[in-house]
Amino acid sequence: MTIRAILKMGDTRLLRKAEPMQSFDSPELHTLIADMRETMAAVNGAGLAAPQIGVNLQLVIFGGTAVNPRYPDRPVVPCTVLINPVITPLGTEEDLDWEGCLSVPGLRGVVPRWSRIRYTGFDEKGQVIDRTVDGFHARVVQHECDHLVGVLYPMRIRDYSRFGFTEVLFPEISAAEDD
Ligand code: NI
Repeated sequence: MTIRAILKMGDTRLLRKAEPMQSFDSPELHTLIADMRETMAAVNGAGLAAPQIGVNLQLVIFGGTAVNPRYPDRPVVPCTVLINPVITPLGTEEDLDWEGCLSVPGLRGVVPRWSRIRYTGFDEKGQVIDRTVDGFHARVVQHECDHLVGVLYPMRIRDYSRFGFTEVLFPEISAAEDD
């Protein structure tokens, strides 16, 4: 496994539409996912999309068993590999909450997301994933899948008075934990 470099906002590769994955369960795919897991773990991220390491495929990973020390009260999101995802909002309700992004280091902003969604797609073996989720889980999925259509969370912010540097907004969070 290899820790891969994460592209930062301003790199035009983050603005592309990702291509659908054509084949599953290949050695190349398993290696890519292992690299993404190691990369995400190294920076304590909540999720990572393949375009963030320069791979223009519809593949995201998120969740895990460890409770994030920054958000100990948040429900644990299952460790998931999601390929060729489709998100359907359920209802029109939105939630507002803080987000960060590994491609936008050192910053946080309040982002509106659908409160409740259904998402479908495939895991790395090509098995169907079909889940209805809400809250933080729904937020993570929407954030990661935005990376597959060239959208970074600052593009979703409506109130820029709640966008700023993590060290100023949340001085208790160390820079080392930033995502
Ligand atoms: Ni992100």
